[in-house]
Amino acid sequence: MKLALIGYGQMGKMIENCASERGDEIISTIDPYSPQAKFPQITAESLAGADAAICFTQPDSALENIQKVLQCKVPLIMGTTGWTHQIKQVRAWVQESGVAMLYSSNFSLGVNLFFRMVEEATRIIEPFDLYDVMGTEWHHRLKKDSPSGTALTLGGLLLENLSRKTSLVTERLDRQPKAEELHFASVRGGAIPGTHQVLFDSEFDSIELTHRARTRKGFAYGSLLAANWILGKKGFFTEKDLMDHLLYG
Ligand SMILES: NC(=O)c1ccc[n+]([C@@H]2O[C@H](COP(=O)([O-])OP(=O)(O)OC[C@H]3O[C@@H](n4cnc5c(N)ncnc54)[C@H](OP(=O)(O)O)[C@@H]3O)[C@@H](O)[C@H]2O)c1
Repeated sequence: MKLALIGYGQMGKMIENCASERGDEIISTIDPYSPQAKFPQITAESLAGADAAICFTQPDSALENIQKVLQCKVPLIMGTTGWTHQIKQVRAWVQESGVAMLYSSNFSLGVNLFFRMVEEATRIIEPFDLYDVMGTEWHHRLKKDSPSGTALTLGGLLLENLSRKTSLVTERLDRQPKAEELHFASVRGGAIPGTHQVLFDSEFDSIELTHRARTRKGFAYGSLLAANWILGKKGFFTEKDLMDHLLYG
């Protein structure tokens, strides 16, 4: 595969390393702030010859980057988080463009297996009212958005499968949570690549499910798998579509 990397920060560089191990070729690196990148802007020229583009930049540039890549008719793997409040708009752009885009809040295979486990665990807990549920996520001190996209995905899964919870609260609570509120808290500091925990808690015991990323390499590897899968497709996809394919063919 010939790939363009949009954003040449920690993730962009990790994907470059992983790509060469897999025999994929990075033909373009695009970043207005990195002097090491080949191009400063997303244009037809900087995307020329790319089978797909992989984007890991900053939340505030996400929507503009998506639009530009779609205008150039290049399939897009979107790893940047913090923009999904605009997901309806993005789906419409993808539909109009006739190009494929895949977004994942977390490209790690382990996290996606974790999503399936949490979903199943939540279905098992559903009839047992004595268990309350909550979550935490921990990330390095340089992460710019909060809560993490992965926490939002987990929150969504929990609300979908647990009828006694109807709203996700991610901000600090200076009051008691209401029974129907699901609290998901964020912690920032150190060099943690990403830890997510879901707790089912009763007066008698606590059941904790934790995913702990060890390095960013898992995200890079997953984004390359996604780029390979999206070739020849049209429309808006998420990691769930890719996982369904990996699990069930
Ligand atoms: N989906 C996943 O699996 C996953 C995994 C890890 C991280 N992420 C997300 O990916 C994003 C990047 O993470 P990171 O750790 O790689 O951050 P990072 O090291 O800060 O890298 C982001 C890079 O993109 C650059 N950039 C900013 N605006 C840009 C634009 N308009 N066009 C091109 N490049 C631009 C940044 O420049 P400046 O530093 O000068 O701003 C930086 O070089 C974050 O949203 C993070 O949450 C997702």
